[in-house]
Amino acid sequence: MQDEVLKNIASDIRKVLPPDAILPSESICMPTVGESAMLDPRHTAHVDGFLYDDELVDELCDAGKMSRNYCTDCGSHRTKPISFISHSASRGRLLYIFTALLGPLNEKTILDVGSRLGAILYGAYLYSTASKIFGIELNKDLCDLQKGIVQKYGFQDRIQVLERNLVDSSELVQLADVVILNNVFEFFMPHEAQVHMWRFLRNTIKSGTLLVTIPPLEESLQHMKARFAMNLDTGINLEEWVRESPPFNADAPGIENLQSEIDEVKLYVVL
Ligand SMILES: C[S@@+](CC[C@H](N)C(=O)[O-])C[C@H]1O[C@@H](n2cnc3c(N)ncnc32)[C@H](O)[C@@H]1O
Repeated sequence: MQDEVLKNIASDIRKVLPPDAILPSESICMPTVGESAMLDPRHTAHVDGFLYDDELVDELCDAGKMSRNYCTDCGSHRTKPISFISHSASRGRLLYIFTALLGPLNEKTILDVGSRLGAILYGAYLYSTASKIFGIELNKDLCDLQKGIVQKYGFQDRIQVLERNLVDSSELVQLADVVILNNVFEFFMPHEAQVHMWRFLRNTIKSGTLLVTIPPLEESLQHMKARFAMNLDTGINLEEWVRESPPFNADAPGIENLQSEIDEVKLYVVL
């Protein structure tokens, strides 16, 4: 039932966004460090994992409206896969986060940093009993889009979307019992600004907070270290900051075939 509601929301949002789900008011920064820096923009497509599941991508490919491959040598059969980048959590990831990874969230407050299309917020509303679900998002158009969905589906009793920069949101960060970071910074700001964001999180999130991150913190912060010589390291010692936590219920129904979706999703407790 929840999955059907999420499908309907995705269908509503697809109708108002361009196929790559990037708005004219956004500017994507292709990463200059880490694995994503290897991506060739000519052979990379932004395919939003919340809006387009595998089944839909297959349908669009069959209809010639999307492609999974590009030809490396025009006219031949030598093709290579296009790299897909998603800027939203897929429905599979939402199911995993809120039914397997996190335990019961009665009376808890969730904060999604960079809530974008609102996928995490809707997943939290439908799958958890968290009493307050906040999304902060820099882009006004994306905030308006989320507010429209919250209104249409009657989620306003527990979801609140705020047009805010993370660094102006100390009180919300400190209020949250669960903070969710789905690759918030990598494609959305230059490296120097990302370092500032990580240092802010390290200094602001209170002890005992649960942190859900995609990709693992080790990976995100490793990218920062690549610039150590230029003083663009965050200086964060992960062992002093967080402890990784196993999923609350690794046998939750429905997640059996989601391995590729869940490998990158990690849960930490802030020390
Ligand atoms: C990868 S998307 C995350 C999507 C969403 N959380 C999800 O999982 O479906 C990152 C979003 O974070 C926003 N963002 C980046 N830096 C931010 C900041 N400092 N404060 C608030 N939002 C930010 C971007 O505008 C972008 O929409």
